[in-house]
Amino acid sequence: MDKVTHIKDQGSRHLSQETVKELIHQSQEAKKQAYCPYSKFRVGAALLTPDNSVITGCNVENACYNLGLCAERNAISRAVSEGYRTFKAIAIASDLSDQFISPCGGCRQFMREFGSSWDVYLSKPDGSTLKMTVDELLPVSFGPQDLSMKKV
Ligand code: THU
Repeated sequence: MDKVTHIKDQGSRHLSQETVKELIHQSQEAKKQAYCPYSKFRVGAALLTPDNSVITGCNVENACYNLGLCAERNAISRAVSEGYRTFKAIAIASDLSDQFISPCGGCRQFMREFGSSWDVYLSKPDGSTLKMTVDELLPVSFGPQDLSMKKV
């Protein structure tokens, strides 16, 4: 099994339809690895890096419920461990048939750590997407720069 897929894409910030389709596909593939015996709620995520690598993650739950990890955070942690610090986009997949999967608040903050203007593709199993920026998902956010702002 390939650990990292590569997508051919134009250099621009705008992703082609094929790239979005492939990213969604990769998030759906990642969803198949979900370890969620407690919630039975499968989630997959696929991150697109600046060099067009795709790094995926799934949710990983635990018998000690509060230790469960979300798919998005797993994907981001894997990518950061590989040396990436910025991202073009992330796609998220679940089994909800009528709703776009919405990332939890913790994952929004985790995404925001690595910039607020990149794209998040919320998807449905039929492949349809809702594109939002991290900033739209988490407005008026707290980020790394805030730590060094003027204090009393
Ligand atoms: N979950 C994610 O992995 N990502 C989301 O965006 C929403 C929720 C996981 C956490 C838990 O394993 C299961 O879905 C139910 O909350």
